[in-house]
Amino acid sequence: MLNTVLIMLLVPTAGLGARYNSHLVKGWSNSDCVRPWQQAQMSKPTLRIPSRAIECHPDDHNCPAGRNPVCQYSLRSQKYVCCEDKKDADIPTCPKYYETLLLPCGNSVDSQCPRGYRCLGSLGDDSIKLCCKPNRTLEYREPEHTFRENRIVPRLLPIAPAYELIATFSDEQISMGQLFDASIIEKLADPPVMSAGVELQDEKLYTIILADATSKAVTWLVANIAAFDGQLEIHRRTKSAVSYQPPDETDKPVGMHTMILALFEQHDTWSQKDLARIAMDDFNFGEWLEEYAHVLPGQPLAATFYGYSTKKDDRKRI
Ligand SMILES: *[C@@H]1O[C@H](CO)[C@@H](O)[C@H](O)[C@H]1NC(C)=O
Repeated sequence: MLNTVLIMLLVPTAGLGARYNSHLVKGWSNSDCVRPWQQAQMSKPTLRIPSRAIECHPDDHNCPAGRNPVCQYSLRSQKYVCCEDKKDADIPTCPKYYETLLLPCGNSVDSQCPRGYRCLGSLGDDSIKLCCKPNRTLEYREPEHTFRENRIVPRLLPIAPAYELIATFSDEQISMGQLFDASIIEKLADPPVMSAGVELQDEKLYTIILADATSKAVTWLVANIAAFDGQLEIHRRTKSAVSYQPPDETDKPVGMHTMILALFEQHDTWSQKDLARIAMDDFNFGEWLEEYAHVLPGQPLAATFYGYSTKKDDRKRI
C-alpha cells in the first residue's frame, strides 16, 4: 500500500512537463532518484570520502553496470546522479499487449497521456494508472508473464521459473493461479504429483518447496531428490525435511492463501544441519534463496502457484 501511495505521489513530478507542487517535491527530494523503485548507485567509501551517489552527465552513458542504470537529475543533490532499480523492484507495467510509458495518469494532479496512449490500470494492480499504447505484436514469455500478472514475481518470488511446474492434486491437474475454496479444500489433502515440463538430469539433485506466501510458512519441503529417467524420484517413502501440511478451513489468516510450489535444481547437496534450520514461519523466498545461494540457484527450474480459501468463494460473478 505504501508503495502505491509513493508511486502516485512521486512519479507525477517525474513526468514530462508535470506541474511541480511543493508537497510533491518535498516527498521526492528525500531520495536522489525519481521513481520509488529506484535507488542511487553509490560509490565505494574511501578513507577520505564516505560513500555517495555517483555523479553522471545526461549525455554520456557513464553510469556503472547495474539494474537499468540511468542518469537523472536529483533535486536533493542538485546534480545528475546514477540511479538503478532496487533489487526485486516491483515496477508497474501496462496490461498485456500494451506498451508501457511510465507516466501516471487518471489523477487530477497528473498530466494527460500523449497521443496514441490510453490511461489504464497497471498489470496486477488496477489502482496504479499508467499511460499505455496498444500493440498486438508484443511477445510475452511464459510462465514469467503469468507470474508477473498475478504479482507473484518479484514480490513473493524474486525470479520467474524457466518452466511451469505441472502439478496434479487428487487427479486434477491444476492451472497457474487456480483457487480451491473451502468447499473443495479436501482436494489438497495429499501432496501433488508433479512433472517439470523439462527432462531432469539423473546426476543432479532437486529440491521441492511449497510455501504459503500469505501466512509466510513452508508447508512442504523435500530436498536432495534424485532424478531417474528424467523424472523426480519422489514417492511415499521419500523423506521430507518438512512434511506436507494440507490446508485446513481453520487456518489463519481467514480467507485466501497464495501457495507457491517450486522445483529447484541444486548446485550442491543440502546438509541435514541447513535443512533443520529452515525458518518455518516468517519464510521469505528472497531471503531464503540468498542465504542458501551455495545450494540453490535464484531461479526455480519450474514452479506454479495456486490458492486455497478457508471460506466459500462467494465473489460476485460478472
Ligand atoms: C510493437 O512492438 C514491437 C516489438 O517490441 C515493435 O517492433 C513494433 O514497432 C511495435 N509497434 C508499434 C506500432 O509500436
